[in-house]
Amino acid sequence: MPSPILTAVSVSKSFGPTTALAKLDLSIHPGEVVALMGANGAGKSTFVKILSGVYQPDGGTLTLCGKPYQPASTQGAKRLGIATVHQSIADAVVPTLSIADNLLLDRLCDTASPWSVPSQARHDAARPLAERVGLDVDLSAPLASLSLAAQQLVTLARALASHPTLLILDEPTASLSAPEAERLFALLDQLRGEGVAILLVSHRLGDLRRIADRVTIVRDGRIVADLQPPIDFDAAVETMIGRPLPKHRASPPSDAATLAPCFSVRDLRLAADSIPFDLDVQCGEIVAIAGPVGGGKSRFARAIFGETRAIAGEMTLDGLPWRPRSPADAIRAGVFLAGEDRWRTSLFPDSVPFASIAGTLSFPFLSRWFRNGAVRRAQERHAAAEAIANFGIRCTGPDDRLTRLSGGNQQKVVLARWHAERARLLLLDEPFQGVDAGARADIVATLRRHAPERATIVFVGDLEEAFEIADRVVHFDRATLDRLSTTDLVPLVH
Ligand SMILES: Nc1ncnc2c1ncn2[C@@H]1O[C@H](COP(=O)(O)OP(=O)(O)OP(=O)(O)O)[C@@H](O)[C@H]1O
Ligand SMILES: [Mg+2]
Repeated sequence: MPSPILTAVSVSKSFGPTTALAKLDLSIHPGEVVALMGANGAGKSTFVKILSGVYQPDGGTLTLCGKPYQPASTQGAKRLGIATVHQSIADAVVPTLSIADNLLLDRLCDTASPWSVPSQARHDAARPLAERVGLDVDLSAPLASLSLAAQQLVTLARALASHPTLLILDEPTASLSAPEAERLFALLDQLRGEGVAILLVSHRLGDLRRIADRVTIVRDGRIVADLQPPIDFDAAVETMIGRPLPKHRASPPSDAATLAPCFSVRDLRLAADSIPFDLDVQCGEIVAIAGPVGGGKSRFARAIFGETRAIAGEMTLDGLPWRPRSPADAIRAGVFLAGEDRWRTSLFPDSVPFASIAGTLSFPFLSRWFRNGAVRRAQERHAAAEAIANFGIRCTGPDDRLTRLSGGNQQKVVLARWHAERARLLLLDEPFQGVDAGARADIVATLRRHAPERATIVFVGDLEEAFEIADRVVHFDRATLDRLSTTDLVPLVH
């Protein structure tokens, strides 16, 4: 085997009292895809950020192509051949700039030789980058007009533009549909063939099965196993979380047929030329709406939550017409939505004073929890402590800022928020983004425990997740919302 491109020996990093990395050792060879597998908060993104020059390690050594490697900045890392697609897309793009400028951001921001050319030339330079990842959009549109999945492709295209010797991908498929993920893997196959080393972080076992040459398991900031195919992934998950994986099966409400529907939809049309569809969800039932990214699932969720309006049709909640004018109406009635893009829909930026776990949980319920100007901090803190215990949020306490939590733990805060009060109808849009397999099993158990008191609808692109959580799966199987039809909404399981 050729000598490694990168070797890490005893790399350590702490944030105050939290040890994120404890003497981590790893090496990666040319043309090899190494998958880093680890529970939420295990230290994966911290390691990725050290390799890409975002953080400096506290100790240990890094060697790149036989030479000591100590990147002082992300640009420095890139110049030495390490390109990274980070977990948080929001940190990597500028929403107000055009898609073309976002694709060329590294060249435009290169302080050594900033690139200044007319917009048509920028457009022409960006086009091949977009084509390489199959991004077929108007490049002059603002980046904010793109879906999360398309924004992810922009960050990937930008990383590839620097022709890296080591490409690092931190959860690149979290917001991609199955065909988009497959296109990414085909690209990775090609890069591997060209001798590029690839370090991949993913919670999706399907990703690891498809692409990994080697799976390295991180637990509590150190490597605990290094596995070659064929890999027993059930055993790997148990090694990763350090305990047996909880096993349970969906048990539909006992007499669902005789129960009245809690939530119903009749002749609903979400876009001007879409065809109407119906849906009934019983109290106690968990229904998964599965289908491709861009298929209209989130639009449907937002229509129920009062964030957007359906074009036509009727919704009923407990037999009464359901026509929320805003999310505030929905929250008052116990209809809660955990949105798809956590930083856009649910979490606050660090500049906001209450961007802590406790502040995030209480925000939708302020009118109930803080009546007549009396601030009931005790209630807020109690809810936060319960959420941390019930959802296994890895943190130092209720006052932790959201930006200090790992990606999967941020997602657990979003899910915990909508359990702080009793829901009548709970809507979860892609609830398992970035959540590790062990935590996912625990969250499914929590959702099932609370299921009898409400109706639950989960919107997911991944069928495996849909079957793991739901009593019944219905499928939005057309690529565009405009062509959504009754025949597309096919119950797969009863
Ligand atoms: N900037 C920071 N300040 C304080 N603590 C941090 C910071 N970044 C990470 N941590 C902590 O370090 C630990 C490791 O976090 P990291 O983001 O590396 O986990 P991860 O393995 O990537 O998890 P996930 O699968 O959820 O993305 C966590 O306990 C996290 O809260
Ligand atoms: Mg991470």
